Amino acid sequence: MHSQVPCDTKFYTTPCVGVNGSTGVLDGCVGRGGYPDRVTTSLLPSVPTSADGPGARGVFVSFEGGDGAGKSTQARLLADWVRGLGREVVLTREPGGTELGRTLRDAVLHGDHVDARTEALLYATDRAHHVASLVRPALARGALVVTDRYLDSSVAYQGSGRDLGADEVERLNLWATGGLLPHATILLDVDPDVGRTRLTGQPDRLERAGDDFHRRTRAAFLARAAADPARWLVLDGTASPDELARAVRARLAPVLGVGAA
Ligand code: TYD
Repeated sequence: MHSQVPCDTKFYTTPCVGVNGSTGVLDGCVGRGGYPDRVTTSLLPSVPTSADGPGARGVFVSFEGGDGAGKSTQARLLADWVRGLGREVVLTREPGGTELGRTLRDAVLHGDHVDARTEALLYATDRAHHVASLVRPALARGALVVTDRYLDSSVAYQGSGRDLGADEVERLNLWATGGLLPHATILLDVDPDVGRTRLTGQPDRLERAGDDFHRRTRAAFLARAAADPARWLVLDGTASPDELARAVRARLAPVLGVGAA
């Protein structure tokens, strides 16, 4: 069975269709670099397209949501399920999916105060290196890449939470990643008050950012998801882990070309 997974953002004009149902993987959805003019007129120049084309055959899935939404648990459950089907899965996260990323993660979450633009650039730097050194090579091998947070976190947290502007932050990150977007993004939505009760340990810089910040971030995630329902699945993060895992499998089974368990 062939699956069709449109995953364009408003920046892309090329339709995105996943094929190759027999092996259950998609190609064509990731790494398209065709920016329309209004993007290339910004400070950020053209987007490289090095991993475009027939080499990029894997499936890329991101989990998003506020702090304490349960993303890590669901990312792990998805990875376990797909590994159990005999597929290669790379389970990773941002910030901190690479060795350089772990240094950047420490700096941005636990270091001294940095201003909002520096913060956005630190996340984008982590992401650029993560995509180039880990995500794209795994997709080229045909793996499922599951990431706990991706570019949409920057658009929500830095674009809206820090008020840098969603469009600017999205452009920065599309440039940083060569235009790589996930085939599917799962948003685990929870009220920040609920998320806070689930956190353990000392709050990091972002967790300390205040109620208004977290409310803006949540609203930004929801608005972004509503604008692109073909890519996003929004789930109520207060549902049980089992219920959530079932919904995630049901959404991704056609993308992976397998039956939902
Ligand atoms: P994460 O490790 O996912 O924390 P948690 O498990 O508590 O959700 O992310 C660390 C923090 O970094 C989190 O508060 C969200 C923030 N963040 C951004 O502000 N921008 C980004 O681009 C990313 C990836 C994360």
